[in-house]
Amino acid sequence: MSAPTMTLFHSPASPFVRKVMVVLHETGQTNRVAVQSINLSPVAPDADLNLTNPAGKIPALRLDDGNVLFDSRVICEYLDLQHVGNPLIPKEGAARWNRLTLAALADAVMDAAVLTRYETFLRPEEKRWDSWVDAQQDKIRRGLANLEQEHIAELASVFDIAAIGVACALGYLDLRMPDFGWRKRQPKLAAWYAEVSQRDSMRATDPSMN
Ligand code: BEZ
Repeated sequence: MSAPTMTLFHSPASPFVRKVMVVLHETGQTNRVAVQSINLSPVAPDADLNLTNPAGKIPALRLDDGNVLFDSRVICEYLDLQHVGNPLIPKEGAARWNRLTLAALADAVMDAAVLTRYETFLRPEEKRWDSWVDAQQDKIRRGLANLEQEHIAELASVFDIAAIGVACALGYLDLRMPDFGWRKRQPKLAAWYAEVSQRDSMRATDPSMN
């Protein structure tokens, strides 16, 4: 097995990092990447990371030529061009835009969940803004309701960039918002998630086990 030539700036709890890790597993590329752990929050940036990604966010992927890619969407697209199996992002046509839009909805759910986590865990209690948290959680509810009502068949049809994003978003809700109760509201999504969570790529990247 050859040595890794790329470095992924990583934190196991980040759903965006998990999405990249699942793509690496699904495309058989885990051995190409060394993982560098980063411990950061919006108020505790990482100096090393800031040098390579001025946005100060993970994931970021340093390539063998020293160039650094971010954010997770760019990294996933890059990795998808580097393997010979079925593409995780359709190359063209309506399928490309449909799947990328679904993946963007998954990212929006992740964003709202991470912002909720920051507000409820990091921000001092006396400064918390309940209406703002409520609005983030409404966004998550709207996103999941839309997935349940409009997109279950599409999600179940192939485990590609859209399905990976939704699975990682749901995994993050379970990790950081275990009382959110999404399974009761979205039983079809819950059944789909129970199945895809058993995939090797999802089990290997489960944040509760890493
Ligand atoms: C978390 O601990 O929830 C987290 C860590 C890194 C990025 C996003 C979320």
